[in-house]
Amino acid sequence: MREKLVAGNWKMNGNLKESVSLLNALVTDISTIGSNTSYAVCVPYPYLAVAQSTLKNTTIKWGAQNVSQHESGAFTGEVSAIMLNDFECTYVIVGHSERRMLFGESNQVVAEKYLAAQKAGLVPILCVGETLEQRDSDITEQVIYEQLNTVMTVAGVDSFRNAVIAYEPVWAIGTGKTATPQQAQDIHHFIRQSIVKQNAEVASGLTILYGGSVKANNAAELFAMPDIDGGLIGGASLIAEEFIAICSAIS
Ligand code: G3P
Repeated sequence: MREKLVAGNWKMNGNLKESVSLLNALVTDISTIGSNTSYAVCVPYPYLAVAQSTLKNTTIKWGAQNVSQHESGAFTGEVSAIMLNDFECTYVIVGHSERRMLFGESNQVVAEKYLAAQKAGLVPILCVGETLEQRDSDITEQVIYEQLNTVMTVAGVDSFRNAVIAYEPVWAIGTGKTATPQQAQDIHHFIRQSIVKQNAEVASGLTILYGGSVKANNAAELFAMPDIDGGLIGGASLIAEEFIAICSAIS
């Protein structure tokens, strides 16, 4: 049985007061959802301590949105996987399209971040996805396979036993243009089949999330698709009621 997961990616939003308020609202409301789904929030680095103290004795997990590929050293401004461990993070997002596009993270760097996270005992949420131009050029599967294959080359296919993949079509992120459930299912199926070819057992147990304008009014039909095991939620995760509604939409 694959783990079902709904994770919030807060991105660079909020302040301490708003973060504490949102965390407390989630603690109150998520406990009312009876399901076998895991829930998590990936918060900005400065709020990891308050996430840890607020969520520590709840079923909600927490994590970060990035991590250095280096274990330690002269990398000013960077944060290591060991440091994330100090805050008892479960997850860390790696390779989000905003980091790939805005901060120049290559497939190789993303794969090294993925490996560094796992070496420290964290569960990487590996983001893959295509731009609208790539989709219109009919190279979506080629792009995503290259993103996956680089990770399999660096970390091995068995590493997916302790990882989550998030398919996030770049053209759906923050745009309100959600992929249709079938569009998302097609790529989730492609991702799983790409891994089946290497190791069918690993592929079968791999949690694959969809991200890209997931809202309370579209989550249920997305999550009902056979290869969609949950969601990575951006904007909607900043609103407690909306995030709870999305969490409730997974059965
Ligand atoms: O990592 C999730 C994020 O990229 C999706 O953003 O605002 O479209 O839900 P949003």
